[in-house]
Amino acid sequence: MEAATPTPNATQGAQQSFARVVNQKQEIRKKLSGIKHRIGVYSAKGGVGKTTVAVNLAFTLRQMGYKVGLLDADIDCPNITLFLGLNEVTDAVYPLVPKEKDGVKVLSTAMFLDDQKKPIIWRGPLIGKMIAEFFENAEWGELDYLILDLAPGTSDAPLSIMQLLDMDGFVLVTTPQHIAAVNAIRSGRMAKRMGVAVLGVVENMSNGTGGGAAEVGEALGCEVLGSIRMNKKLDELSDRGLVAVLTDADIKSEFEIIAGKLV
Ligand SMILES: Nc1ncnc2c1ncn2[C@@H]1O[C@H](COP(=O)(O)OP(=O)(O)OP(=O)(O)O)[C@@H](O)[C@H]1O
Ligand SMILES: [Mg+2]
Repeated sequence: MEAATPTPNATQGAQQSFARVVNQKQEIRKKLSGIKHRIGVYSAKGGVGKTTVAVNLAFTLRQMGYKVGLLDADIDCPNITLFLGLNEVTDAVYPLVPKEKDGVKVLSTAMFLDDQKKPIIWRGPLIGKMIAEFFENAEWGELDYLILDLAPGTSDAPLSIMQLLDMDGFVLVTTPQHIAAVNAIRSGRMAKRMGVAVLGVVENMSNGTGGGAAEVGEALGCEVLGSIRMNKKLDELSDRGLVAVLTDADIKSEFEIIAGKLV
């Protein structure tokens, strides 16, 4: 009988991938040295308003006079360009130059798609590779804040961000529902385990009681940064590719409270 092929040395393999992550991390650190703060907007639960919060937070910070970048870290289901009405297709050539929208620098995989409705069907390792490439090859220049819109879940894309980037921390998003709060708590615990700070929690689609954010704040020992009311206008503006804080004074004041606490 033929001898079995020797299996690769598992320890060696693990050491190599660890070294690769460390190298990538150093490269990315160098590349992002002009960015003062990196803040992710995150929840493991889908549809709670991560993109809504990330977009409006970025433009609120810009209105406060900061230099701001907005990165769509939802690699396979990118939504930022839809929220911003950025329809122009760009060639994917390095270095990747973020597009400017009302003074905010924006980068998303969606910019390189000729058809927004085309699915990106990638397994985890490719998503991680794309995130690393985004950071290694993007020309952000000098920024005060880079806001990252994370994908839901507790694997692949969020995990790569936590591993590869020196984050200042995450803003968690919940809704008033207990289920959303549980998922935000799960997200916060993952971040802490990965050595990333939880900067606070925002209650989106709020009914005014603040129960969801309070539950998360208590469980994680983090600050409640503010709440955004359930607001049809916010939904309609976003759906038309318009940034709500640039046109609606009430929504703007809700985001100013959150941004004020963050800075
Ligand atoms: N405060 C709000 N009031 C009304 N509608 C809202 C509010 N916040 C978000 N929405 C709407 O809810 C939907 C989901 O929001 P959004 O895409 O920001 O969630 P998400 O957490 O980023 O989702 P995903 O997990 O798919 O990335 C969108 O249609 C958005 O316009
Ligand atoms: Mg989203």
